[in-house]
Amino acid sequence: MSINIKDYIRTIPDFPHEGIMFRDVTTLFLDPRGFRMAIDQLLHPYAGKRFDKVVGLEARGFILGGAIAHQLSVGFVPIRKAGKLPGQTIAQDYKLEYGEATMEIHDDSLSAGEKVLLVDDLLATGGTAEAGIKLIEKLGAEVIGCAFIIDLPDLGGRAVLEKLGMDVHALTSFSG
Ligand code: PRP
Ligand code: ADE
Repeated sequence: MSINIKDYIRTIPDFPHEGIMFRDVTTLFLDPRGFRMAIDQLLHPYAGKRFDKVVGLEARGFILGGAIAHQLSVGFVPIRKAGKLPGQTIAQDYKLEYGEATMEIHDDSLSAGEKVLLVDDLLATGGTAEAGIKLIEKLGAEVIGCAFIIDLPDLGGRAVLEKLGMDVHALTSFSG
């Protein structure tokens, strides 16, 4: 039987809190076939589409987004947790499982009308990706696709993003 993306993902129980099954993509990044397979599959539905920028969400979205931007020969834009970006930023608050956090983007990193592919490793509640979409849209750019390695369907993130009119692409999912 051929190996698939899910086979490369390690699950670590009780990280970072008891009861959480942490889906660890570092084992996928570690394997050259796995990493290449992930980048190829993330891009597959967008063949023939034109993007101006790839936007990656901190932290593992940077690893995927950098490789995808290189593959597409377009620029890469990081969205980071508050206080990390050195230039002028705009901010968006978002909900975590417990409490709130803030994401930021450089205000000169996207131009009005630019077409964006948003990338992260995992979609859970959708709060992080929603904050990213709002930041991109505040700068007048357009999210053409949201690509993830993993969807956790029990947490409802896909529905949150689809309600915003987003096209969501995930390579695999984990339930329970
Ligand atoms: C994880 C993951 C996504 C986010 C998804 O990042 O990499 O960015 O959670 O969760 P959500 O859909 O419920 O918003 P995390 O917040 O652990 O940050 P890190 O990548 O900096 O460790
Ligand atoms: N982010 C939110 N839930 C997660 C999980 N189960 N594994 C990895 N990252 C996550």
